[in-house]
Amino acid sequence: MRGIILAGGSATRLYPATICLNKHLLPVYNKPMIYYPLSILMLAGIRDILLITGPRDIESFRGIFGTGERLGLKFSYAVQEKPNGLAEALIIGKEFSRGQDVCLILGDNIFFGHGLPALLKETVRGMKKQGGAYVFASNVQDPERYGIVEFDSRGVAISVEEKPKKPKSNWAVTGLYFFDKNCCEIAQGVKPSGRGELEITSVNEEYLKRGELHVNPIGRGFAWFDAGTHDSFLEASKFIATIETRTGYMVGCIEEIAFSRGWIKKDALLEMAETLKKTEYGKYLIKAARGD
Ligand code: DAU
Repeated sequence: MRGIILAGGSATRLYPATICLNKHLLPVYNKPMIYYPLSILMLAGIRDILLITGPRDIESFRGIFGTGERLGLKFSYAVQEKPNGLAEALIIGKEFSRGQDVCLILGDNIFFGHGLPALLKETVRGMKKQGGAYVFASNVQDPERYGIVEFDSRGVAISVEEKPKKPKSNWAVTGLYFFDKNCCEIAQGVKPSGRGELEITSVNEEYLKRGELHVNPIGRGFAWFDAGTHDSFLEASKFIATIETRTGYMVGCIEEIAFSRGWIKKDALLEMAETLKKTEYGKYLIKAARGD
């Protein structure tokens, strides 16, 4: 399975903070926002990753991740010329995915919860067995802002709608999507919506029509943020700060994940920690390397 992180867009809802800066590079508490979705792909065991962003920012991301080797990953990059919509990521990523299953994650989505690695692995296994599309739904108070899924009395998804004026439920589809090899072809058939975007919800709708959309509601044990507005951004930062300070464990620490998965050696982790040793982040990496 291959991973795609979509980190473009114009982030006008975060202006003026993002006039000259890609939002996914802004820090959510103590690390760039992009670390969080990347950590989700890593926890799912995905190492072959395509990062898609706008032409202005591609070199900044290349500067951070390079080939990915430092983290035991393989990074590729592609430009989305304009924010034409999320489904375009699947079209841009067609060559990269080469007919394999794809996990697409939005660069501003942050997940936290007990059992998340197991849930991700189970989803990857489900994909391998059955194909189709796997998405997650989270209960929200402001359903007009999201893709919304409606369930029947047996808990089976019966509709998905993008930013509905009259939402049929409070279950928002999160920005983490597992798609089988048919996703590129489906995305290529998507027509721009009323707001002129190639909606990922249209891709999900097509899977639903085919009877192949699996929607997993994530329960109360999970927190999900899309850090696209000033308020949600601040909320996410405060949440991460609280969890990390209280537990002493970092969320979205990509070096620690690479090490714990055995993708990089202790020496490599210590070398990375060395350059950061004046920071809490660096000290944390040293502790992780020593197994403290
Ligand atoms: O966060 C979950 C929601 O994400 C879903 O519930 C919705 O169905 C889905 O459409 C999306 O809604 P948003 O309004 O939050 O999408 P937004 O335009 O904020 O873009 C999400 C991320 O993707 C953000 O990090 C910017 C990036 N992006 C967006 C567009 C439209 C791109 O890289 N390229 C694009 O063309």
